[in-house]
Amino acid sequence: MDTLGPAAREDRAAQVEEFYTRSPFPGYAEGDDASVLLERCRRSSFLAGLDRAVPADGSFLSVGCGTAQVPAFLGVAGPKRRVLAVDGCMESLEVADRFVQKISLQNITLIRADIFDMPLPKERFDVVSCRGVIHHTPDPFRALDCVAQLVAPGGVLVLGYYETMGRAWHRMRRVLSTLRGRRPVNWLDPILRRKDISTEKKRIWIEDQYRHPLEVSLPTPRVLKHLEQRGFEFVRTVPPSPDGNLFHSTAKPGPMAMWFRRLLWMLSGVVDPDAGLVVLIVRKKPKFSYSK
Ligand SMILES: C[S@@+](CC[C@H](N)C(=O)[O-])C[C@H]1O[C@@H](n2cnc3c(N)ncnc32)[C@H](O)[C@@H]1O
Repeated sequence: MDTLGPAAREDRAAQVEEFYTRSPFPGYAEGDDASVLLERCRRSSFLAGLDRAVPADGSFLSVGCGTAQVPAFLGVAGPKRRVLAVDGCMESLEVADRFVQKISLQNITLIRADIFDMPLPKERFDVVSCRGVIHHTPDPFRALDCVAQLVAPGGVLVLGYYETMGRAWHRMRRVLSTLRGRRPVNWLDPILRRKDISTEKKRIWIEDQYRHPLEVSLPTPRVLKHLEQRGFEFVRTVPPSPDGNLFHSTAKPGPMAMWFRRLLWMLSGVVDPDAGLVVLIVRKKPKFSYSK
C-alpha cells in the first residue's frame, strides 16, 4: 500500500477520519473470500451492471473506497483491469489490504490520500467512482470537482451521494433516534429489522447512518447542473434499477420528470436499504478536435 500524508486536515475532515478509523466501512465477514465477494456483489443489480460496463482492460479509480469491496470485486471479476482505490482513512485501507492479500489480488493498488489533495494525473481514468463520500466532506461541490477532473475525455463518473429528497425518510429516523439517546428504532430501518445480518454489520450500519459526525445531502438537479457546466453529459440515475448497459445514455428527465423521480426516491425511503443514496452516472464529453 502506498502511503501519502498524514497531511494537516480541516477539523471536521479529521473527525470523519477518526470516525472511519473506529468503524471502517463496509465490513468484511470472516469467511469472505474472492468467490463470496463475487457472489455477493453480483446479487446487486447495480454492481453486476457496473462490472458489465467497466471495460475488461480499462482503468477504474475508486475515490473514498473505504475497505475497497467494490474495487476488489471489479479487480477479481476483470483480471486485466487496472484498479486504483484511494481513501483518506488508513484503518479502512489496512482492512482492504488484508483482504487483498488474503485473496492474492494483483491488479489493485491502494493509496491513502485526501479527496481534496489527490496526487493523481488529471483526465486519465476510464471510470471514476465516488460513492458515499462527498456528502461526508466539508465542501461537497469542491470534492466533486476534485473527483470529476480525474475522468478521461469520453470516460464515465459514477457518483453516489445522499439525495436531499431521497434521504428525507432517513432524516426522520435519525431525528427520532436522537430523541431516544441516539438509539435507532430497529423496525423502522430496513437493515436493522433484517434477521440475516450479523450484529457487527448492524453496529457499523448504526454508526454510519445514525452517528456520523458530518453528513449533508445534495439535490440532484444542482449536482447535475454543476457537472454539465464542467463538460459532462447525463447518462442515467440509479434508481431506477438499470436495464441494459449501465453506461449507455438514457433520456435526461425534464424538470417535472426529475421532480417525480425524486418524489419516488423519497417514498421508497421507507424500504430502501441504501437509505437515500442515489447514483448519478455522467460521461465527460470527448475533447473537440482542432485538426483541420
Ligand atoms: C461511507 S464510506 C464509503 C465507502 C465505499 N465508497 C463504498 O461505497 O462502500 C465513506 C468513505 O469515504 C472516505 N472519506 C471521507 N472523507 C474523505 C476525504 N476527505 N478524503 C478521502 N476519503 C474520504 C472515508 O474514509 C470512508 O472510507
